[in-house]
Amino acid sequence: MERTFIAIKPDGVQRGLVGEIIGRFEAKGFTLIGLKLLIASHELAEQHYDIHKERPFFKDLVSFITSGPLVAMVWEGDGVVASARRIIGATNPLTAEPGTIRGDFAVSIGRNIIHGSDAIETAQREIGLWFTDAELANWESTMKPWLVE
Ligand code: RTP
Ligand code: MG
Repeated sequence: MERTFIAIKPDGVQRGLVGEIIGRFEAKGFTLIGLKLLIASHELAEQHYDIHKERPFFKDLVSFITSGPLVAMVWEGDGVVASARRIIGATNPLTAEPGTIRGDFAVSIGRNIIHGSDAIETAQREIGLWFTDAELANWESTMKPWLVE
């Protein structure tokens, strides 16, 4: 079953949006497989954003992402990687559609409150980076027959 890595960044936690954001993925019908609140180390943040290490914003990005607690999650469901990206919205919140998380709650690219894996392979890499196998629960919701025919 497909899984994705979602993180509510320190701005989302500070702004009290944790419940609202988790609620959107729950209400959609995806399954929560892993969940923890932590302050990420510089090493972890640098590995997570490794693909951006040559970009001018890399240092600020790592410094911001490690600046306070974030909520790391794994969500499961058919097509969850691409669907989560649509629920999250465009990277720049000013161009993110209303109804998306960034479109509804943010105004600045450097404070866009949430991360979501951009591809299935990226999701696998990121899940392995943030969670051990023992931290992930393999379970099936009793609602499944009401969500998937
Ligand atoms: P994310 O990885 O956080 O889910 O965001 P994304 O895929 O929508 O965007 P990505 O291109 O991967 O960029 C990662 C994060 O870097 C910050 N950023 N700042 N100042 C800038 O031009 C700039 N560009 C990107 C954003 O916080 C973005 O979420
Ligand atoms: Mg990205």
